[in-house]
Amino acid sequence: MALLDILTYPDPRLKNRAETVASVDDSVRRLIDDMFETMYQAEGVGLAAPQVGVLKRVIVLDCGDRSGSEGIAPLPPVQPIAVVNPVVESSEGCVAWQEGCLSVPGYTDEVERSARVIVTGLNREGEPLSIEAEQLLAVCLQHEIDHLEGTLFVDRLSRLKQTMVKKRLKRKSVEAPA
Ligand code: NI
Repeated sequence: MALLDILTYPDPRLKNRAETVASVDDSVRRLIDDMFETMYQAEGVGLAAPQVGVLKRVIVLDCGDRSGSEGIAPLPPVQPIAVVNPVVESSEGCVAWQEGCLSVPGYTDEVERSARVIVTGLNREGEPLSIEAEQLLAVCLQHEIDHLEGTLFVDRLSRLKQTMVKKRLKRKSVEAPA
């Protein structure tokens, strides 16, 4: 396995739409494994392939409770989930969650999303999978699927807030290039 470089805002590659994976072969499995390793190392709960510069519809997440492992890096796997070609089949309710993103380091904000979703796709073996999720897992799935459309959580903030936040993030990226 290998650690991958995580692109950070305002890298224009984060705005691209990812392509459907035609078949889940060894190269896709290697990508999934590397993404998991990169995500745990960065202490994130989710990662989408475009964040590591790969325009494929692949996401990994682990929203398992790691409260017992606080301060120990990298985070251990608890509830690893990989989805290839994820699709939100149904969604309901509304929940506001304080979100962050490995591609937007040092900034979190509240975003409103569906409270419950059913997401379908393929697993690491290329078999169909269906996930019924709520709360953090539902939020995380929607956040990662957004990345496949080139959308960051900061794109979902109010127009006024976006202008403010994006200016701040751009300034930060000039001062300290990643
Ligand atoms: Ni993200």
